[in-house]
Amino acid sequence: MHTTIEPSILYLGTPVVLISTRNEDGTTNVAPMSSTWFLGWGCMIGLNSGSQTTLNLLREKECVLNLPSVDQAYAPDRLARLTGRNPLTPDKVAMGYRYEKDKLGAAGLTATPSDLVKAPRVTECPIQLEAIVQASHPFGGFEPARAFGENTSDTPLVLAVELKIVRVHAEESLLVTGKKNHIDPDKWKPLLMSFAQYYGLAPGRIFPSKLAEIPEEQYRPYEDMAKLPTA
Ligand SMILES: Cc1cc2nc3c(=O)[nH]c(=O)nc-3n(C[C@H](O)[C@H](O)[C@H](O)COP(=O)(O)O)c2cc1C
Repeated sequence: MHTTIEPSILYLGTPVVLISTRNEDGTTNVAPMSSTWFLGWGCMIGLNSGSQTTLNLLREKECVLNLPSVDQAYAPDRLARLTGRNPLTPDKVAMGYRYEKDKLGAAGLTATPSDLVKAPRVTECPIQLEAIVQASHPFGGFEPARAFGENTSDTPLVLAVELKIVRVHAEESLLVTGKKNHIDPDKWKPLLMSFAQYYGLAPGRIFPSKLAEIPEEQYRPYEDMAKLPTA
């Protein structure tokens, strides 16, 4: 039996990402987000236009998507309701956010230089994806609070930002034994957000997947990854 409901959000479960970007003064901002999905080496992320991350991303055109496992759930939670933007936007004031300049320090995280982008990686995250902005699109304008062209400073817009991943760093212990390029889903324990709560995957695989019968190599977008186009 189904019933129709009207939830205020539809956050049905997506991976948590700590996105690192470079501030205008060269320091690092890191912020938790979870409106994210991947296709091949592409990624779409949904960002509030009032966050420091969005300002940095649109200016610098690059970032690192750092994926915490369930073991690092403390980090996004320490960063929740902190912003690197000063002064705060009115919606953040209303939600009890405060300004924090040293987001990495506040979360107990450290930075490692990236290979191809200026924003550093978050050392503690087992998967780190260096990325370059391809495009950004207004999103959700059909909702009154996000009506493009009519927004006021306290009704922030949402942007869908398209990213191209240019380098993948993975903790070696997560790889399929004997394979250089395959993350083992039996070892990788992503941290998920569902309706603003933190979850891990249920223990174990449910049953063998027909999709996984296709060799993972067949999804490789470029035969020679050195030929991955640059920005
Ligand atoms: C687990 C978690 C997930 C979040 N997901 C998103 C998201 O997908 N998009 C977004 O704009 N904000 C998201 N937020 C809120 C941002 O972290 C918040 O806007 C913050 O101010 C961003 O920091 P910044 O202003 O320093 O960039 C999330 C927060 C938490 C704790």
